[in-house]
Order: sequence, then structure tokens, then C-alpha cells
Amino acid sequence: MNPVAFIESKRDGKEATTSEIRDFVNLAHKGEIPEYQVAAWLMAVFFRGMSGMETRTFTEALTRSGRVITFPPDINPVDKHSTGGVGDKTSLVVVPLAAACGVPVAKLSGRGLGFTGGTVDKLESIPGFSAHLEMGRFIDQVRSTGCAISGHSGDLAPAEALFYELRDVTGTIPSIPLITSSIVSKKMAGGSRAFVFDVKCGSGAFMEDQLSARELAESLVDLSASMGRGSMALITDMSQPLGMWVGNAAEVAEAVDLLLGRGPDDLRELSLRLTASMVHLGRPSISLDEALSLAERSLEEGKGFRKFEEMVRSQGGDLDRFQERVSRGEHLSRTIREISAAESGILTRCDARRVGDAVRFLGGGRLSKKDAVDHGVSCQILRKIGDAVSAEEPLARVFFSGEGVRWEEARAGLVSAFEIGESVTPPKLLLGSVGPREVD
Ligand code: URA
Repeated sequence: MNPVAFIESKRDGKEATTSEIRDFVNLAHKGEIPEYQVAAWLMAVFFRGMSGMETRTFTEALTRSGRVITFPPDINPVDKHSTGGVGDKTSLVVVPLAAACGVPVAKLSGRGLGFTGGTVDKLESIPGFSAHLEMGRFIDQVRSTGCAISGHSGDLAPAEALFYELRDVTGTIPSIPLITSSIVSKKMAGGSRAFVFDVKCGSGAFMEDQLSARELAESLVDLSASMGRGSMALITDMSQPLGMWVGNAAEVAEAVDLLLGRGPDDLRELSLRLTASMVHLGRPSISLDEALSLAERSLEEGKGFRKFEEMVRSQGGDLDRFQERVSRGEHLSRTIREISAAESGILTRCDARRVGDAVRFLGGGRLSKKDAVDHGVSCQILRKIGDAVSAEEPLARVFFSGEGVRWEEARAGLVSAFEIGESVTPPKLLLGSVGPREVD
């Protein structure tokens, strides 16, 4: 193949052939096409887009660049994917809850990305928890426990990692065909038979407006159907953090609280909707409404919590020890600071991105790939959009380690995350949905 002609053709808005796309991915993965040419092609795709056929062929080539998990025919697992948010701990709830409703869940998760948190980092706050299951063990656990959460191993869709890394440093992340193929290739490699997507929309998401969030949701569902997978997408608000806590250990504690029947309303509502979508896709004879009632009952009866305990135990985690630490507040870092309201009024903004950035900056996420994560760093959101606040009342409480050399910078970001005005319409949590869609 001639990579220069391939790049020029995309630059000029022409459609590539299937064999050109396959060759390009294979050669790039083998290191036989230099990264500057891959980067140039990505930028051409960013501006010119890809046709349905191109997106599908690109996705298949990424999936086939490594191993693909194959579940035995008697297990039909469902996977769930969020496009990334702040305070989004729903996976910790929906994976065991859907399993408790009789739907096997094989969840592949990532680490935190940019200002967004990652399920693997969160779960690693539980002493002993192993988030890296070897493929055979992953399949066995889905069979025996009904659910498993594992980090992406390097041999699943490895070419996707190469393209993603280059996108991250060339300003080409927010491209709908590239995001779609990145997500679906990893889900296909994970071997599940149906996918539920939570497409986040707002300041704390890759898609900041509803139109592009819907476009991404449609693209994910269309591509999944064309690749033989049933799917559904919910479009959900990420203009403010989900729940009341942002930060790894604190988010696990909040998810456990919800599984125990407590926890904030927004997290509960979204978790139940996502679980219902997973149950309906996994057991199509159950309607979405029936699936929602089943999810509510299973949550109330503690079945989701018991399944979470079982899953954590199977993966080597000691939930009792984690809960003891939570009861003594030891899961949170020791230095505490507050952000207070400058005046009285109504909270009109609680910017998810700025909160996520501050937690990351204080050590709760990574600024470079090799950074270790401090699981105790967190931000407790004390007021949300639409709440009445009084001057000097605390809006957020921040927990971090050490003397806070970085605090002044993080503080400035957090102060600018909050705005107070006279009135506001609080954002709706559920902004829309696409599907459920059967395979094409
Ligand atoms: N999440 C992914 O997995 N890939 C993207 O491209 C964006 C968000």
C-alpha cells in the first residue's frame, strides 16, 4: 500500500476501499507505517469523517489486531460502556445489579482518562482487588458469579491503543467515527453479545452539546448492529458531577452506599435505567418497563449488593476491610479544605470538568501515564445546580495528601467551577436514548 496516496485520498474527502483500510491498520500496528503518517491520516479523518463502510472496516481491523474473547454459546454476556464522566461510578452498581437480575455481565474497563475517572482505578481502592483477569479466568468468573470487571489487557485490540495514543496528542479525540470505532472495537474484542452505551453530554464529557451526543449515540448503535450486536444508548447529563463524590475510594464508598439502599437520587436513577437496558438486551422477553421494576426490586432486596460482594471476593478484594476504613473515614486523604459560596442565591453552575481536573491535579488521577494514583484524593460536592445557598456556606469539601503545594492552583479551578445567580433550570439527567436495536 502507498500510505501517502491513502492520506491524500482522505484529505480530499474520498472513500477508501476495505483492503486499503485493513492494510493501513495492519502495517501501522506492525510499526511499518511511521507515526507521523498515521497522525496525518487521523487529522484528515477528523476533518473529512468516514463513511459507514469505512468506520466498520476500520473497527473490524482494530478488533482483529489482537485476541478476541469467545464465550461459550450458553453464556450471552452484556457489556456496558460510558463515554467518560466525572463522578460516574455507575459501573460499580449496574454490573452486579444486572447480574442479580439474571443477565451475565462481562465488563471490560479502563483507567482514568484525562479529567474523567476509570473503573479500574476506583476498584483498586478495595484492598486486594485484582482488576486484571486472565482471559480464561474472566470467562469462568462470568459463568460462576454472573459478572466480572477486568481491565483491558494489552492483547485485546492492541492497534486501537496505538491509534488512541496518537489521537490523544494530535487533537483528534473528538471525532465521531474515531470515538465510535475506538469504543466498539474494544467491546467486540471483549466478546459480549450486546452493549449498553452511556453517552455523556456536557462540560465533563467529550461531547459538550446534545446534538453531537445524539450523533455519537446513533453512530455507536448503528455500528454495533452492523457488527451483529444488539445495543442501546442513553444520552445523559454530565454538566455537573454524578452523585456527591468524585475520587476513587470515595466513589466506591458511594456506589456501595447505593447498593445498600442509600446513595443520591441521580446516581440511583441512572444506575436503574442502565441496568434495565442491560436486562432487556440480555433477556429480550422482558420489556424495558418490566426490566426497570426488576432492577428496582433487586436493588431494594439487597441482591445487587450481595452480587457485588461476591464479585469483589472472586477477584481477591476484601470488602469488609474497605468498609471498616470507610466507617472511620480512613479511605479519604487527610488534608481537608473547603470551597465556600461568595454570596447567597441559587447555584447555577457546578462544572464537572473543573471538578474532575482539580481531583486529577491533586493526585486523584494521572497527569502523565506513569503517575501513581492517590485513591484517597476526593471532592465532596455539597451543593448541586438549582440548590439555594447562603454566603460563606461550603459548596465542596476537598481531601488530599500532604501540605497541599498544589492546592492554590486546584482551588482556583474549583472556585471557578461554581457560579451563583438568581435562578436556573436544573439540568435533566436523562437527555434521550437510541435503540434498543437488534442486529442488522
Ligand atoms: N472513550 C474511548 O474508549 N475512546 C474514545 O475515543 C473516546 C472515549
